[in-house]
Amino acid sequence: MIRIGVLGGYRGTSMINYCVAAGNRAKVVAICDNNPEVIERQKKALEGVDVAFYDNFEAFIQHDMDAVVLANFANEHAPFAIRCLNRGLSVYSEVLPCQTLAEAVELCEAVERSGKIYAYGENYCFIPAVMKMRELYRAGKIGEIEYAEGEYIHNCDAIWPSIAYGDPEHWRNNMYATFYCTHSLGPLIHVSGLRPVSVTGFEGKMVGRTRGHGSKSGAFGLLMVSLENGAIFKSIHGGLYKNSVWYSVYGSKGEMETVREATGGEERLYVNADEYPGEYPKEEHREVIDPVVKNGVVEHFGHFGSDYYIMDEFVKAVSGEADANIINVYEALDMFLPGLFGYRSILAGGVPVEVPDFRDPAVREKYRFDRACTDRKVAGDQWIPPFSEGEPVIPEEVYVRQRQIWDKEKNGGSYVTAVMKQGSLKK
Ligand SMILES: NC(=O)c1ccc[n+]([C@@H]2O[C@H](COP(=O)([O-])OP(=O)(O)OC[C@H]3O[C@@H](n4cnc5c(N)ncnc54)[C@H](O)[C@@H]3O)[C@@H](O)[C@H]2O)c1
Repeated sequence: MIRIGVLGGYRGTSMINYCVAAGNRAKVVAICDNNPEVIERQKKALEGVDVAFYDNFEAFIQHDMDAVVLANFANEHAPFAIRCLNRGLSVYSEVLPCQTLAEAVELCEAVERSGKIYAYGENYCFIPAVMKMRELYRAGKIGEIEYAEGEYIHNCDAIWPSIAYGDPEHWRNNMYATFYCTHSLGPLIHVSGLRPVSVTGFEGKMVGRTRGHGSKSGAFGLLMVSLENGAIFKSIHGGLYKNSVWYSVYGSKGEMETVREATGGEERLYVNADEYPGEYPKEEHREVIDPVVKNGVVEHFGHFGSDYYIMDEFVKAVSGEADANIINVYEALDMFLPGLFGYRSILAGGVPVEVPDFRDPAVREKYRFDRACTDRKVAGDQWIPPFSEGEPVIPEEVYVRQRQIWDKEKNGGSYVTAVMKQGSLKK
């Protein structure tokens, strides 16, 4: 039985629900959140379950447990991951793995020193169609990958008050356009197993829709990534008006793609592959695969069931199962660094920028003191603006209005819905 502590009781609801569903394989033993309202809601939801509640990390980390889920702010994972690893705890980190290169260096070192499991929570690698895509790719179904596309478009305008709380300093209001890139790029990396070597970034323009709720970045980020085998991946994510989650991969003898949200049935995979390269059969053999196994438990989990599968693989890894399918720290950085360097490419006027391999201590050493990011308290004099043309001035009234909406929502009772949405939204 793996004993799990959860930091961040908002999105952390999903991992708590996993522990409840996991039976005797894992259990949640401690929950930490410094927002008393979140703790109160969790206490109610978990009545009768033997869990300790903490309002501060220092006390929480002393709890007797095997592993910690980090579901705190997306730009603050690395320092907490390092503290946990140094204490001998395995770590499941929500997206993103870190916010600076200096943190990435320290994170790799902490994982290597500890010998513990570090698993990156890029759940879009675990939606059923992507898992099937990976299995088929690894079995040689479409030959060697030459090109791929990943899309994660999520218009969060309507839910912004309940996810950024009208706080001008909240990470969602301060991330640059290419920061949150791993939902779109991650699955392509996990399917192919390839390492990115260079990136060119593009930034969507700033639009009223996102600026109007307090976001200080371009509306979306686009990355053109070169891989170690010469393949090119296109990755787009952000707040365009209509949502889309979609992945496609082209190989030397075929193609596979999931279904776009506009069509419906995103869990489905289409495969069109020849037996051998150059066969060009008169009749195309298109396969339609529905890889969803509705086992009664998984279907209640968010993001097409991926929230269940990814935690399950983490628990397997912590339990010592060598073949557990987890995303280790180096692969996590292969998913994240193209976004970080993609923004440097944008700031440099759109030139290709090299993506370093953090597996090599000599390569990563160069970045030990690189703290450039949009978070002033971490970056100090290396601070960079969240928009390439400079930090926009957003009137305080915008945030006041967002706070008013949020206050009304939580006091009106839809707060629980907002909390659960983080844990169980279908996408
Ligand atoms: N993979 C997905 O599909 C998905 C979906 C939603 C959110 N997320 C990720 O989940 C994480 C959390 O996002 P969120 O939307 O729940 O909201 P959030 O980032 O606003 O909330 C984080 C929670 O952690 C708590 N917290 C932060 N720092 C703390 C500290 N030092 N001590 C105690 N508590 C602390 C906050 O009070 C808050 O309740 C982020 O990394 C986000 O990227 C992932």
